[in-house]
Amino acid sequence: MVLSVNNLSAGYGRVKIVQGVSFAVKPGEILAVIGRNGVGKSTLMKTLVGELPAMGGGIAFLGSDITGRPAHERAHMGVGYVPQGRGIFSRLSVGGNLVMGETVGRMRRLKANYERVYRFFPVLKERHRQMAGSFSGGQQQQLAIGRVLVGNPDLVLLDEPSEGIQPNIVQEIGRTIRRMGEEEGLTVIVVEQNLDLIRTAATRCIVMDKGAIVAEIDPKELDDPAVAKRYLAV
Ligand SMILES: Nc1ncnc2c1ncn2[C@@H]1O[C@H](COP(=O)(O)OP(=O)(O)OP(=O)(O)O)[C@@H](O)[C@H]1O
Ligand SMILES: [Mg+2]
Repeated sequence: MVLSVNNLSAGYGRVKIVQGVSFAVKPGEILAVIGRNGVGKSTLMKTLVGELPAMGGGIAFLGSDITGRPAHERAHMGVGYVPQGRGIFSRLSVGGNLVMGETVGRMRRLKANYERVYRFFPVLKERHRQMAGSFSGGQQQQLAIGRVLVGNPDLVLLDEPSEGIQPNIVQEIGRTIRRMGEEEGLTVIVVEQNLDLIRTAATRCIVMDKGAIVAEIDPKELDDPAVAKRYLAV
């Protein structure tokens, strides 16, 4: 398993949001974490990367217990993270943003992997010197994912990559996420509410409600509008 999460709980102050979540992710899987607004999806991601401490339970990454490890150590071990809202430095160039990925990520075995980034996102090579702030939402999302890939992660966590992006670009990003698993064996956990992105990218879906995982479904099941309506705010 790339990641094993066992009875994990977490929250803010004394308020528990994530309530006893367990799941595991295999190499090359694209796991979608879906669910309505405010159910705790981002809180779960923040706990997995170490931005929030666990209140209980455990997290194992490639067989090592990382539950108590600080965020920067998890990143160096190979956990990549694009937060909701992307976290792009808008006053830096595209290239300047990508270089940031070198220091955050894991440079142990491999050198910074720009070729792979440019293969997935050619626009980042073409517009290397452009200010990141002048990019469209979709291009900024590609830049944020590319910046994480520079550091050679084994696992990539994406929090709502479709947010604020035009529908035609959503599909393109979804296909690229799928290819990251198929062509590179990368493992991805993607928080999403966008049906198109889930259907093009995900190999498996877990559904969150009130801080817990309440169902596991095949992404194809979301083709049924009744199922989609039950699990997403569509
Ligand atoms: N920094 C914070 N301090 C206190 N409570 C928070 C904080 N961030 C989120 N919460 C609360 O935790 C709950 C879960 O929020 P979270 O952001 O994890 O949901 P989400 O599923 O990611 O929602 P969305 O789909 O809108 O992004 C909400 O009730 C929210 O108000
Ligand atoms: Mg969220």
